[in-house]
Amino acid sequence: MADSYRILKGKISGRKAKICIIGLGYVGLPLALEFLRKGFTVFGYDKNPNRIEYILKKQPYIVDVDPLEVRKFVDRNKFFPQTSPEPIKNADVIIICVPTPLRKVKTPDISYIIDAVRVIKKFMPVPSLLVLESTTYPGTCRDVVLPILEKGGFKRGKDFFLGFSPERVDPGNKKYPLTKISKVVSGIDHKSLSLIYSLYSLIIKKVKKVSSLETAETVKLLENTFRLVNIGLINEFAMLCDKLGVNVWEVIDAAKTKPFGFMPFSPGPGIGGHCIPCDPLYLSWKARKVGFKTKMIDLASFVNRYMPKYIVERLKRILGTSSLKGKRILIIGVSYKKDVKDLRESPALDIIEDLQAQEAEVYYYDPYFPYLLVNGINMKSVKLTAKILNSMDCAAVITEHSSIDYNFLAGHCRVIFDTRNVYKKKLPNVITL
Ligand SMILES: NC(=O)c1ccc[n+]([C@@H]2O[C@H](COP(=O)([O-])OP(=O)(O)OC[C@H]3O[C@@H](n4cnc5c(N)ncnc54)[C@H](O)[C@@H]3O)[C@@H](O)[C@H]2O)c1
Repeated sequence: MADSYRILKGKISGRKAKICIIGLGYVGLPLALEFLRKGFTVFGYDKNPNRIEYILKKQPYIVDVDPLEVRKFVDRNKFFPQTSPEPIKNADVIIICVPTPLRKVKTPDISYIIDAVRVIKKFMPVPSLLVLESTTYPGTCRDVVLPILEKGGFKRGKDFFLGFSPERVDPGNKKYPLTKISKVVSGIDHKSLSLIYSLYSLIIKKVKKVSSLETAETVKLLENTFRLVNIGLINEFAMLCDKLGVNVWEVIDAAKTKPFGFMPFSPGPGIGGHCIPCDPLYLSWKARKVGFKTKMIDLASFVNRYMPKYIVERLKRILGTSSLKGKRILIIGVSYKKDVKDLRESPALDIIEDLQAQEAEVYYYDPYFPYLLVNGINMKSVKLTAKILNSMDCAAVITEHSSIDYNFLAGHCRVIFDTRNVYKKKLPNVITL
């Protein structure tokens, strides 16, 4: 009888392997689509019935993913998205793409991974290749995922192969779609690594092997910590430049003409999304477990978390007042980043909440969010008409969506606080961060 490794290797290279993706969100759905495009049959399991309904009704919910293309694969009986985990039974490859948020106390919450692995244990066929893509702290695969499977009676290297491959997708980034972002892969043993390498090489141009699961887990955390720390630095720098009376954007623009040793980062109203604010805290938590204190991460997180407060303080200065009570303030863009329909950890929400607490009259505009609930208050996106803009004491550009007519804003707002440097030219009624 052919051994498990050869069976899986043959199925993967012949594109006959059936793939089950657990979690069809920003990571799982584009990944499913890429395997579908390469001819694989894909099962999708997501606990959230809305996500399955969106797919079946061809409604867009993930930027960069064309709902019609996804539905085409459903109609051709190549893609089977559902809320039942049963199809795991039919899979050769199982890829976990579930969330890894923080708990309220800012420690890792890997309960979604644990739930997913427990379900896999119930249905996993033999042999299977299991890959974890969710961002997590070093040791999760070996110390958490592996024991669950082994306690279920499965034998590593015979019944299953296991690996970790961090996802690096950047929703909304047209320059780097999934297939052009090189992928780091790791395995619990040589055979697992070889299978994972073969699998991802079919959909991604460059695949980089690393020597251990822990290395791959740490790679992702280094990447996001690098961003967190550099954003923290440039945010602090922006606050300093304001004190010095120097335009930080001009400083960055000139500094980046240096051909080596400098990489530009942009200041802003704070950090959002599922990755940058959360992932480095997975690392600092793990560091504490091994008796190490990550001062850089803690300091950068502190500076970045302070930014929404700083924005509100600057608004007071711009309006020449110590009280925002009754001031009509329009927030432009509420999602956490440009051109993306995603509110997770968005600093705009903190800013709105603070303004509301200070009894300002807060309004917002965002083409991706017609309605918003902030701290129990229902809000509705306003129309950007001359009359509405004229009626505001100040507008603040928090998220710079491309579809917004910034010239029109500048033509009708009394004053604009531009936290993203969308106005490259100096205008009398625009104040930059
Ligand atoms: N969004 C990004 O840009 C990005 C980029 C790189 C890495 N990541 C990482 O990838 C992982 C997934 O992130 P995401 O943005 O795709 O999250 P998401 O919330 O968009 O999607 C996750 C999906 O998993 C489903 N789910 C949760 N638990 C489940 C379970 N036990 N069984 C089945 N389905 C379950 C949820 O319903 C949800 O639809 C996270 O670890 C994240 O840090 C995200």
